[in-house]
Amino acid sequence: MKTKLTRSPDLAAEFLLKSELVAFPTETVYGLGANLFDENAVRKIFAAKGRPTDNPLIAHIAQFSELDLLVRSIPPAAERLMEAFFPAPLTLLMPKSKYVPAAVSAGLDTIGVRMPRHETAQKFLKACGVSVAAPSANLSGKPSPTTWQAVKTDLDGRIACILQGAPIEVGLESTVVDCTGKSPVILRTGAVTLAELQAVVPETRLATKLPAGAAPKSPGMKYRHYAPAAKVVLVDSLVDVDVSAASAYIGLTLETTASIDVFALMQLCHSVSEYARTVFNFFRACDAKGVKVIYCQRVPESGLGLALMDRLQKAAFASPT
Ligand code: TXA
Ligand code: MG
Repeated sequence: MKTKLTRSPDLAAEFLLKSELVAFPTETVYGLGANLFDENAVRKIFAAKGRPTDNPLIAHIAQFSELDLLVRSIPPAAERLMEAFFPAPLTLLMPKSKYVPAAVSAGLDTIGVRMPRHETAQKFLKACGVSVAAPSANLSGKPSPTTWQAVKTDLDGRIACILQGAPIEVGLESTVVDCTGKSPVILRTGAVTLAELQAVVPETRLATKLPAGAAPKSPGMKYRHYAPAAKVVLVDSLVDVDVSAASAYIGLTLETTASIDVFALMQLCHSVSEYARTVFNFFRACDAKGVKVIYCQRVPESGLGLALMDRLQKAAFASPT
């Protein structure tokens, strides 16, 4: 299959409405979309990504009226969070309606709903006129794509269309909040922070760490994630680093007097948000260069830093040893 590259949301929507897959930019990462109500199209997502079929997809919407077909009921906490944040890098789990194909929700009784705020995403979703089921547009296990070039690297020839858009803003996947219980629970941290959510619904809390072997509430959490081919090592400062042509470094500070030109790649970020926005692309650049070890400087685990550390830890955990 030839993959069409386009900047036209309307052309991309035409592909989607013909049961094809379309990768599209959002403010978090690129998504791989299919018409949510077209079960055959949805199945193609799992095939193209090599994604396990027990991992549910997020419903992307342009308008609140789409909720009628997606959810059975709107929990009061979800209502308040939607009002306060949507459109946002935030996914809310609600009880799913009977119209949602089983392939989308992977057999679960809930569905995650997100209204992206990225301009190209909004234009595309409006042009589609239907809700769009989408995971991140990477091959399963790879870092999420934050550029159209990264999507092309993973999925060229496997999908019908890549919609190119303005640069992404966040670089990490959305905050996922389960709104089906007594109080909202954050299953995946992201750019919408715990403190921001608690300002609207004070009872919101982080999911507790699971005991080994327990089934995670979010199926995706059990799979290998965000991992470059290189080994990822988390460090506090350059003191712990083997500076060599086979290694790379990304962080906020560089506390050394040694020459650091020896790194294959090096990126100093001015802020946690720049670090978050660029880290997945840095991983991909390292793989393209054949880097063996990527040293990532730890950041304080608060606000966006909590989400960034979550991804870094998963990448380090999933790395080849
Ligand atoms: O920012 C994002 O969320 C991006 C963009 C494209 O919107 N999407 C994304 O999708 O990251 P994905 O599929 O790569 O990650 C969604 C995560 C998975 O870990 C999945 O298991 C979990 O959310 N999830 C989705 N629906 C769920 C549900 N009904 N119950 C529990 N977990 C769910
Ligand atoms: Mg993903």
